[in-house]
Amino acid sequence: MQMEVRKLTVGYGAAWVLDQVSLQIGAGEFIGIVGCTGCGKTTLLKAMAGLLEVQSGEILLDGENIFSRRFDRAVLRRKVGMVFQYPEYQLFAQTVEKDVGFGLKYSRLSREEKQERVRWALEQMGFSYEEIKDQSPLSLSGGEKRRVAIAGVLATKPELLMLDEPLAGLDPMAREMFLEFLEGLTGQGVSVVMVSHNVDALAQHAARIIGMKQGKIVMDGSCQEVLGDSRALRTIGLLGSEAAQTAELLLANGVLPEGAAKRRGLTPALQEEMENVPVEEKRILPGSGLPVTYEALRDEIIGALTGEKGENR
Ligand SMILES: Nc1ncnc2c1ncn2[C@@H]1O[C@H](COP(=O)(O)OP(=O)(O)OP(=O)(O)O)[C@@H](O)[C@H]1O
Ligand SMILES: [Mg+2]
Repeated sequence: MQMEVRKLTVGYGAAWVLDQVSLQIGAGEFIGIVGCTGCGKTTLLKAMAGLLEVQSGEILLDGENIFSRRFDRAVLRRKVGMVFQYPEYQLFAQTVEKDVGFGLKYSRLSREEKQERVRWALEQMGFSYEEIKDQSPLSLSGGEKRRVAIAGVLATKPELLMLDEPLAGLDPMAREMFLEFLEGLTGQGVSVVMVSHNVDALAQHAARIIGMKQGKIVMDGSCQEVLGDSRALRTIGLLGSEAAQTAELLLANGVLPEGAAKRRGLTPALQEEMENVPVEEKRILPGSGLPVTYEALRDEIIGALTGEKGENR
């Protein structure tokens, strides 16, 4: 699947919510979208899923303009899947099995194939199919509902999977498993686009990050480029990843060589900013023993500083 968004402009009423947004998504990419609340992330996903009227611009799905009158919308439904923000409110069927299978209703799969898909999707989301299938979605916890809702989209096996804040409500273990599962999907050529405020989760799993501000794409680059650039992240109202912040601290305290800073293009202004770091935070760094997070994040920090990926990444 290839998608190309060209100069997309979307508005509600008088104001533009997306302003001339352009981007390309290739097969097997894992893209994270970051930006403050209200900057247009959900609107962009909905538009790419073909769910919105747009003022101008084009969206090409494998070369076909989805707004063209000749475009067959069944192609869009088959290739693109979207997990909405708060998907747990969209469960409605009597049983989990029916809910997860809903998106397959009109597919040409046999009954058995559909059942296999539902089983697969539920298992990917950490459920035992036999135990969960006959339960009412209403009887589940918030996090379970969310996982069932995600399974419903997975069951359709989209080539482009878009997820709007899917991590909220998942515990750390479920979150990690889910992210690794998504990475596995990209290995099979599925493109994943995930909106998340969890910059550290994106730092570990997404290869490319798109930063948005007030309806525009203001950053689009490799994970290292975008998340390593704390200043740029601050300008869109986000702090850098934990690794990038720690890297700054280490640099400012002379733990890492100046050359590393130059290679990353960290400026004296940044170092100056670090003067304002509280004394307690500084004391734990050089000399008497590095903070625990340093060891844990070492590879990532060096990656953030040098633009290279660490060994275990
Ligand atoms: N249906 C709508 N009608 C009118 N305005 C809307 C509608 N949906 C979104 N907006 C406005 O469009 C802007 C972008 O909203 P959007 O939901 O895309 O933001 P977001 O980046 O997803 O934010 P969040 O991080 O809070 O989910 C906001 O200013 C919002 O108020
Ligand atoms: Mg949103």
